Amino acid sequence: MNKEWVRTTVRDIPLYYNPKVKAIRMDTSTNVLGPNPAVNDVLEDCADMNLNQYPKPYSDDLRDALAEAYDLKADNFVVGNGSDEVLDIIFKTFMELGERVVAPYPSYSLHSFFVKVNGGHFETVDLTDDFHLDPDALIKARGKIIILCTPNNPTANAFDTDAVEQVIREHDGPVIVDEAYGEFADYSFMPMVNDYDNLIVTRTFSKAYGMAGLRVGYMAANIDMAEQLQKIKIPYSLNRFSEQVAIAALRNHEYIDRTIELVQTEREKLSRGLEDLGFKPYPSQSNFILFRCPVPSSVMISRLADKGILIRDFGRQRLLENCARTTVGTEELNSMLLSKLKEVMDEWQG
Ligand SMILES: Cc1ncc(COP(=O)(O)O)c(C=O)c1O
Repeated sequence: MNKEWVRTTVRDIPLYYNPKVKAIRMDTSTNVLGPNPAVNDVLEDCADMNLNQYPKPYSDDLRDALAEAYDLKADNFVVGNGSDEVLDIIFKTFMELGERVVAPYPSYSLHSFFVKVNGGHFETVDLTDDFHLDPDALIKARGKIIILCTPNNPTANAFDTDAVEQVIREHDGPVIVDEAYGEFADYSFMPMVNDYDNLIVTRTFSKAYGMAGLRVGYMAANIDMAEQLQKIKIPYSLNRFSEQVAIAALRNHEYIDRTIELVQTEREKLSRGLEDLGFKPYPSQSNFILFRCPVPSSVMISRLADKGILIRDFGRQRLLENCARTTVGTEELNSMLLSKLKEVMDEWQG
């Protein structure tokens, strides 16, 4: 094929991370307690779900349930096939071809992907040495849209609320706050969506809710903004089954509470265990930990994968040299991870 046929803005985009190794997956920051039990409840009702019919185009039932959960209106919400879809909708709605979007670096790699596939120009502003936000620099970078993620992936820390609020207040354009890991953090911007004319908060059922395989995400904004975003969403993009599971999951607090408690207890222990092995873990308000390795991270991770556990390598990225990211597992998973890491490190030294 003639490469010139491909749109110039997307010509150099690589395929997304798609590891082929057979190993326990601690590389995707998903829920280690297994699928949300709401799946089983809804499976029983599947026969009555009229799956020969389309879902409602805008998933109104889930929007009603979200409104109830957050004490907002259904019209504040747009629901999609994962929060990745809702991020895509935002750029399609607000960004003209060639316009700039500014984001902190390092952060979630698909933010730049969605900007580029929609013909935009992606600019980054480095986080500080301890991975905090520089709000003045973000605002000065003069993007039409600012996108940031808190807690931040892959660094795992939540940014100072004041710094995020300054960005929302002072930026003259849409500000996206990606809260994919929001359930694990001390604060959320969700309750503030009606206070600002430019704030969009995105969330997902993939992480704390244990539904990554069902692909459900959502965003909230003030009603004027949400109405514009809703028009751009692909109608019916969220299937009936996933929508019903998400509604049931929102109403079942037990699994979420158990998840958050597990992450809080185990994160601390895992972090200490990593430190004892000579790694440098960074503070986390998420269900994953970023840590720096005293040896080349790519080799260490591939040796660990040979022993049956996969974690994610970020070691070739600027500012993340020799850094790796692991999901916080159950007690059992974490001790297996630590003992395999110890084996790798002992073999290295031996
Ligand atoms: C920061 C961030 N935003 C969004 C997503 C996408 O989530 P979803 O599964 O809802 O598309 C992820 C997934 O890893 C993420 O880390």
